[in-house]
Amino acid sequence: MQDYRQEFRDFAPTIYLDCAYQGPFPRTTVARLQEAIELKCHPERLEAPEYFRLPERVRGRLANLLGADPSEIALTNSATQGIGIVAAGVGLAAGDEVVIASRNFPANLFTWLHLRRLGVRVQVLKPAGDRVRVEDVVGVLTPRTRVLALDWVGYTSGARIDLATFGELVHRQGGIFVVDGTQGVGALEIDVRQLPVDVLAVAAYKWLLGPYGTGFVFLRSEVQDRLELPVVNWMSVEGSEDFDALPTEEFTLPRAARIFDVPETSNFLNLNALEASLEFVERAGVRTVAEHCARLLDRLAEGLERKGYRLRDWTDAEQHSTILGFQADSREATTQLHQKLRANNVAVSQRHGTIRVSPYLYNTEADIDRLLSVVGDPS
Ligand SMILES: Cc1ncc(COP(=O)(O)O)c(C=O)c1O
Repeated sequence: MQDYRQEFRDFAPTIYLDCAYQGPFPRTTVARLQEAIELKCHPERLEAPEYFRLPERVRGRLANLLGADPSEIALTNSATQGIGIVAAGVGLAAGDEVVIASRNFPANLFTWLHLRRLGVRVQVLKPAGDRVRVEDVVGVLTPRTRVLALDWVGYTSGARIDLATFGELVHRQGGIFVVDGTQGVGALEIDVRQLPVDVLAVAAYKWLLGPYGTGFVFLRSEVQDRLELPVVNWMSVEGSEDFDALPTEEFTLPRAARIFDVPETSNFLNLNALEASLEFVERAGVRTVAEHCARLLDRLAEGLERKGYRLRDWTDAEQHSTILGFQADSREATTQLHQKLRANNVAVSQRHGTIRVSPYLYNTEADIDRLLSVVGDPS
């Protein structure tokens, strides 16, 4: 495989194994960002059509990544915003039911719990780890279930759910399937044309290597038709690019997800950087990312098991992702281990009493071996 290390800044003396926390900018993104900064220093170079062209280029790349149509992508500033467009817009009312899981990232948890104020019944599944089981969902679905909202890849152990299975379950009840894809998109291949996923919300600052404050949501066109639009983004109104011919009485909105774009959509610094990062991900290939991380995590899993550490949600290979979670004998011992790793310049996260390791293309087997040598054997 190509050596991707020179495409990023050198992390030395740190070994950065925390892409699930923040994906770093590739060098090409830094260069593009510098060009974008120049545009702000020289606004006379910023041409009006670019306000419309830049979001469309980014939208096109995101659609490509998912196998979606650009008309199904709205640009957001977060996963929360994408989920919120649906939670607030799909017309849920007293007596309707929503099913979520306690280990969903908070973006896919509180957004739904907030609907309880309207009398919506929000059922919270509580699996033992990140892994949501089919039987748990089957047990709570009813004819009143309007939404099942789950994370594709868990942010603690990286357990990946089978989107086809869960999507079909809720579709059978007439509900929609809302997925937070933040920890999967960019790291694992996905084709929404083949999947019963209605909504896929993603924060782009992790596996898409974008700036913090960028994201998008895939809204299948049938779902768009059911969504209320509370605030109009003026840039999405037909003809809004021509100030001399603006409609002032009646206006037309396109039948496309871009009507849900975050206002000031063409945030130049953010979107130029995101565009360059998406180009990098495309060039490297999502499959390359997935296979490289799988090789590193298999090596890590083997080493940790040999030392006697407990791996979380690792029994079933189909549930593996680009994240691995492991624990020492007790919560305190896990916390100490995390501290030891940090003190030894190995950057990983700790979530729910689990150490989370998430490599990327810049990591090598030597990085994994270094982690293994720092953790030593469980006390
Ligand atoms: C699964 C998942 N979803 C969403 C987010 C971020 O959400 P937001 O962009 O709304 O802050 C994270 C961040 O860690 C995450 O792990």
